[in-house]
Parts: sequence; structure tokens; C-alpha cells
Amino acid sequence: MTRTIVIAGGTTGMGRAIALDRLRRGDRVVAIGRSETNARELAEAAAEEDRRRLTFLRADLSTLAENDRVAAEIASSHGAIDALVLCANRHNRARTTTADGLEATFALYYLSRFLLGEALREQLADGGGVVVNVAAPGIKAGSVRWDDLQFERGYRGLKAQLQAGRLNDLLGVGFAAAHGADSPIRYVLFHPGFTRSGTASLSPPARTLIRLLGAVAALSPARAVEPILPLLDDPPHAPLTAIDRGRPVSLDLPTFDPGDARRLRALTEELVSRLRQRGCYSIATPTEAVNQAT
Ligand SMILES: NC(=O)c1ccc[n+]([C@@H]2O[C@H](COP(=O)([O-])OP(=O)(O)OC[C@H]3O[C@@H](n4cnc5c(N)ncnc54)[C@H](OP(=O)(O)O)[C@@H]3O)[C@@H](O)[C@H]2O)c1
Repeated sequence: MTRTIVIAGGTTGMGRAIALDRLRRGDRVVAIGRSETNARELAEAAAEEDRRRLTFLRADLSTLAENDRVAAEIASSHGAIDALVLCANRHNRARTTTADGLEATFALYYLSRFLLGEALREQLADGGGVVVNVAAPGIKAGSVRWDDLQFERGYRGLKAQLQAGRLNDLLGVGFAAAHGADSPIRYVLFHPGFTRSGTASLSPPARTLIRLLGAVAALSPARAVEPILPLLDDPPHAPLTAIDRGRPVSLDLPTFDPGDARRLRALTEELVSRLRQRGCYSIATPTEAVNQAT
């Protein structure tokens, strides 16, 4: 059976490794990213006979309008979705704001994942699908700044990354709670461990250091995603599962607090509704889908 796998951030690193594996298995893959060059390299890495099952959607997922646009395009071009894999992320050394005026790490690493999961839930439900949110479940470092989620004070790139990782833990809890135990959609929070990817946006010295460390201590993207692949064919039974490098993570950890998850979901819904009222659609870029099929 040909399955449909949507990968946000599917053009490099772990998203790319999952895309290539699924194409080899005969699935349809929709890879979302910003760079045509990365998309072309992904297509070239796939076997020629697999490329016609690869669609690249170019989008900047750090804006509300772009998330809405790609979700609408996916919903109109594909029926049921078997898996939505969330990998898009970028390290921002200095505080950066998006076209919507949001702090960029919050917007891409957290809010986009909320938006895509919600916008594609009908298609996921039709396929009895699974959402795999690749982040850092259970991580104890960092904290959630409830009074300053977008780091208007004291921004540090690493702190913003750690916070967004924790917001994704709460996102998983909130998604499972909001859609109920009877929902056919399964949500998996996945920690890949230290992987030889994701260094493109680091400063040159940090990139060199991480690459040197990575050469001895990190997994290749293909190895890091190995525990994800069986979950795409056979999702766990529980509405929410957290996994760290193949091992289960207890959902009793404080980072999965249900009260915090409800609070974050309410804040997020309010933020999204405010952005929509403000008419963030005015900044939407024209529809653009580049199908890599020849
Ligand atoms: N690498 C690690 O050691 C590690 C450890 C723990 C957790 N993780 C998590 O694992 C996930 C995947 O990491 P990775 O190392 O595979 O990262 P990566 O190689 O940097 O891949 C990031 C992907 O996101 C896309 N992207 C970046 N900005 C985007 C935007 N504004 N709009 C749309 N797409 C965008 C990139 O494509 P374009 O550049 O073409 O846009 C690329 O496809 C991340 O969430 C990361 O936090 C990684």
C-alpha cells in the first residue's frame, strides 16, 4: 500500500533521511522547506523511479500564512495522510522576528508544529495517522518563560531552543488531550540524540566545534531516524508516546504537566486568533508547489 508521508523540514538532516527511506519503500513523500537547492539535492539523492512520488512544497513555516497555505495545498492534493513528521527548525543566534512579529524560534520550532498538526488533523484522522514531532522530549534543561514566551528580554539562542523543545512536550500532551483517547491520530514526541545535522545556522566557530564533536560522538541522520521508521508503519496504540533514542520516556515527568499543556494551548489559540484578526494573510506569498517529478 502506498502511504502518504508529509515532512516539515524534509529537505536536510533527519527529515531528508526519513524522506529517502520512505521513497525507497514506495511511499508518497511531501517535503516542506525553504531552499530549492536543498530540495533539488534531495530529489537527486532519490532513485529516479522514486522521484515521481516526491513533492517539494517551498514555504517559510515561520509564518502563520505559510503554514495555512501549505496545509491547504496538502489537503487539496492528497487524501488521507499516514504520517506528519515535524523536523523544521533553525538556530537563531540573535533574536529575530518573523513577518508576523513573532520571535522566530518560537514561531518555527513550536507554533508551526501546532498549526500543521491542527490544520491537517482531518487528513491524519482519515489515515489513522501519526504525528512524529522530532524535538527533545523529557529534556530537563531550560524552562518555559510563561511571562515572556517570545524572549523580549534576555534572548539567548540556546535558551530559546530549549524552551521551544519544552513547549513541544506540552504541545504533544495538549494535542492528545484536546482530540481525546478515541482519536485515531497518534502523537509521538521523539528525541533523536546528538546527530550530525542541524549545524547550518550556527556561528562558524560553534559549527566547527559541533562538527568536530559530532564526528566522534553523533549519529548520522540515517541512524538517528531508525527508531522513527517502524512508527510510521505501525504507530503506538497510546494517543501520546515519548521516545528518547528508541527508549520510552515517562509521561509522568514534570515537562509533560497536563495543566501547563492546557495553559499553553489556551495561550496559543488566543495568539493565533489575534494574528488572524490582525490579517496576517496580507503577507502570504503566492502559491508555489514544485513537484520534483520529471
Ligand atoms: N541535530 C541534533 O543533534 C538534534 C538533537 C535533538 C533534537 N533535534 C531536533 O531534530 C529536528 C531536526 O533536526 P535536524 O538536525 O535534522 O535539522 P536540519 O538538518 O537543520 O533540518 C531542518 C529542516 O528545516 C527546514 N527549515 C528551516 N527553516 C525553515 C523555515 N523557516 N521554513 C520551512 N522549513 C525550514 C530546513 O530546510 P531549508 O533550510 O531548506 O528551509 C530543513 O529541511 C529539529 O527539530 C531539532 O531541534 C536535533
